[in-house]
Amino acid sequence: MGSLPFTVSDLQTSSSGARSSPTLLCTPLMGTTVDQMLIEMRKAKEIGSDVVEIRLDCLRNFNPRPDLEVLIERSPLPTLVTYRPIWEGGQYEGDETKRQDALRLAMELGADYIDVELEVAHDFNNSIYGKKPENFKVIVSSHNFHNTPSSEAIGNLVARIQATGADIVKIATTALDITDCARIFQIMVHSQVPTIGIVMGERGLISRLLSPKFGGYLTYGALEAGAISAPGQPTAKDLLDLYNFRLIGPDTRVYGIIGKPVGHSKSPLLFNAAFKSVGLNAVYVHFLVDDVKKFFDTYSSSDWAGCSCTIPHKEAALKCMNEIDPIAKKIGAINNIVRRSDGGLMAFNTDYIGAIAGIEDQLRGLNGTNPAAGSPLAGKLFVVLGAGGAGKSLAYGAAQKGARVVVANRTYERAKELADKVGGQAMTLAEVDNFHPEEGMVLANTTSVGMKPKIDETPISKQSLKHYCLVFDAIYTPKETRLLREARETGATIVYGTEMLIRQGFEQYKNFTGLPAPEELFRQLMEKHA
Ligand code: ATR
Repeated sequence: MGSLPFTVSDLQTSSSGARSSPTLLCTPLMGTTVDQMLIEMRKAKEIGSDVVEIRLDCLRNFNPRPDLEVLIERSPLPTLVTYRPIWEGGQYEGDETKRQDALRLAMELGADYIDVELEVAHDFNNSIYGKKPENFKVIVSSHNFHNTPSSEAIGNLVARIQATGADIVKIATTALDITDCARIFQIMVHSQVPTIGIVMGERGLISRLLSPKFGGYLTYGALEAGAISAPGQPTAKDLLDLYNFRLIGPDTRVYGIIGKPVGHSKSPLLFNAAFKSVGLNAVYVHFLVDDVKKFFDTYSSSDWAGCSCTIPHKEAALKCMNEIDPIAKKIGAINNIVRRSDGGLMAFNTDYIGAIAGIEDQLRGLNGTNPAAGSPLAGKLFVVLGAGGAGKSLAYGAAQKGARVVVANRTYERAKELADKVGGQAMTLAEVDNFHPEEGMVLANTTSVGMKPKIDETPISKQSLKHYCLVFDAIYTPKETRLLREARETGATIVYGTEMLIRQGFEQYKNFTGLPAPEELFRQLMEKHA
């Protein structure tokens, strides 16, 4: 599989699992009553947050002194008090003096932090000058719900915030593209004062996850998935358990899956657990990418160590590579990219290896052949449904093993083009039902027919399945598609799409790390989170 991205001795390990990130994890409390907030703060502590943000503007009936006394005194975690007005994206609509009075009172009653909006920060900070308790800190925040300005404009904004006397700078912008996060990372790395940099929205997720890598003072993690205080906020639990937040530091290598959509991908779960199990200083995140070239042009340093690549980028990403594995090149689609030691990008296609290996293993089970005897696919009639990226992977993979390949696709021209390339036969999807020149054929579905939510659909009639000895479906949501269920009922051996998913993951892990894949761990996690 070509040269490996780096050797084992290069890897920075954190064997103890001890915390390397000083970035605080703050959970916003969104309860509408004091009692609810008291429950929430205990939950936040249980989950493992460091700070709670008391969002006073969420409280329905707020009596400043008694409520703040209870909330601050009873909090099991340090408190950050925020009273966000409507004009800065919050819920408070009342008198401005009363609002600021409540924040000053929070300070006097022992809050550890208060968050004040840039708009009023200058006057507010003057009003508390000389009165600030020791260790108390003022966060001065600026929210932009439209976009993420240029680096220069953000730099000017930071200077303005600093000039108000802020102890901590907070900038929250909105991501229109994942590359917007880069400008916030740059600011966090270079800022002289503690800085909280957040890029809101789905495309800004990495700004939150990677805050510890770029020296962010704090990041927000919600108590529950439905209870977020800003768009794109992950849960505290996901930050800690899924993304290994505590293990992320400046030297952590970043991997991830690029796709659109990508949020459903379980790859972060597998890779992060695998990295942690061997103490590898690496994290694997979701990259919601619109423009692949812009993504690779922006995140081009060695910190961005590699990625998996899914729909719709498997073909577009090819153009951004410095080197492509020969079979991946033939397939014309890649799903695994690693940064070489010289900074260049090398791409692989691990889909075909994963799927073909899964099918071969099952066939060996059927025929009782031993692995040394060559591929059980040799000489078999192998029918591939679909001619997209996955179809190409299966068709090339099977042809390479000596199978006689038939490509059937809704659009005949695409089937023909692929069949010609692999020296096979082409037909339309509609013709497959009546195609049975022999018994004991192998069928591989790579179309999206039968995928959630349209689980009642199937690409081929049950009647015609009796001519196949093995049926594979690349779809893995649901795990048991109608096609696989009917194939099993007809007596064929079946290979689940999850098998391709798992095995392609083994290959990706090997390419990323140069280490053997923790196969058992991957399987257990897939089983548990299916
Ligand atoms: P992938 O990379 O996952 O293979 P793709 O390149 O979008 O995804 O390919 C999707 C495949 O599913 C194609 O073969 C497509 O057929 P066309 O080439 O005719 O578009 C096939 N496909 C998608 N929806 C389909 C449907 N409703 N019926 C039949 N085939 C379908």
